[in-house]
Amino acid sequence: MVISIVLVVLVVGSVLFHFFSPWRLTPLASNWQQMDDTLAITFVITGIFFIAINFLLVYMLLRFRHREGSRASYAPDNKKLERWLIGGTALAIMALLAPGLFVYAAYIKPPPDALQLEVLGQQWQWRFRFPEQNGKLGLSDARLVSAANPFGLDPRDPAGQNNILINGNEVHLPLNKPVKMLLRSNDVLHDFYVPQFRARMNLVPGMVTSFWFTPTKPGRYEILCAQLCGVGHYNMRGIVVVEDEAAFQAWLKAQPTFAMTMAATGPSAGAHTSDARLEQGRQLAQSKGCVACHSIDGSSGVGPSWKNLFGHTTSLTDGTSVTADEAYLKKSILDPSAQIVKGFPPIMPKLEVSEAELAALLVYIESLSAAGQGGQQGMQKDVPQHAAQTRQP
Ligand code: CUA
Repeated sequence: MVISIVLVVLVVGSVLFHFFSPWRLTPLASNWQQMDDTLAITFVITGIFFIAINFLLVYMLLRFRHREGSRASYAPDNKKLERWLIGGTALAIMALLAPGLFVYAAYIKPPPDALQLEVLGQQWQWRFRFPEQNGKLGLSDARLVSAANPFGLDPRDPAGQNNILINGNEVHLPLNKPVKMLLRSNDVLHDFYVPQFRARMNLVPGMVTSFWFTPTKPGRYEILCAQLCGVGHYNMRGIVVVEDEAAFQAWLKAQPTFAMTMAATGPSAGAHTSDARLEQGRQLAQSKGCVACHSIDGSSGVGPSWKNLFGHTTSLTDGTSVTADEAYLKKSILDPSAQIVKGFPPIMPKLEVSEAELAALLVYIESLSAAGQGGQQGMQKDVPQHAAQTRQP
């Protein structure tokens, strides 16, 4: 009897929670109304079965409860009932799966005039690549990935030279224009997900996956990585800005091409001011995912905070202590497992950083300490500043 009441309360409570819960879907900002419809169908079917099965259980508990002098009768099988159950279950499962198959077929078949956008995932950052107007995306190969060429583009492929590279977490898209998304990963499984677009897909190392959507509402939308991809997973976020065509074209024009980034990191790249280096270091800390684990305000994180790190003494797990000078920071970035700071797990991944990027990161880390203010003058290395380079229309 008690269990019957608990079950009824559970079912009624769940249904009420569904209708009165404040957690609803975000307003749709793409063409994929069908995703919502499919979700609704799934919800209705599973909801009906949830209610029916629990109430059946309540009925059974009451109808066949133990009574004085009653005995259970032996009923080994019931062919007629089994046929009904198998048929009914099969129909319900088809009703659940079929709409999804139709939507998926449409989801991976972009209109021929769709804009192309490549998304590149890497622990724990997003990068993007556009072909130029009516152009093609150039060939890429994981073997070509390096600090200077994070996209792994083939310099010998002429189609790639004018590809537009966005080496950061924010990408813009034009309003009401279909976009074909091409997804790849430099390391592990990631998942590109923008809840408002109802569109998502895994980024699988070694292959290119794809889907399409049309953004239908201007705005700033957060990109979430939806596959657990390591300690920085929760912070692998980005931004999609949906804006009108003119604003989009203006933004796109300001982004560098592959040829430009290669020229900027080449031997002819000149020296830059320390301000530019500091800014580059700050951007690298973002784009390389450092800030996922190292706070810059002194708050505790997965790794030691960078605030007031430089020039201060740090205790290591082996009982020794070390002054956090440039040599120590450099070593910690290049060989993270060499010296582990006391109280932190040895989980920092090895980063792909060039000499120039390393120097910029050091300038940035030093700037976060009172002791580091004077240290910047000591860094007089050539640091290419390709992030600031813009393409002239
Ligand atoms: Cu990338 Cu989670």
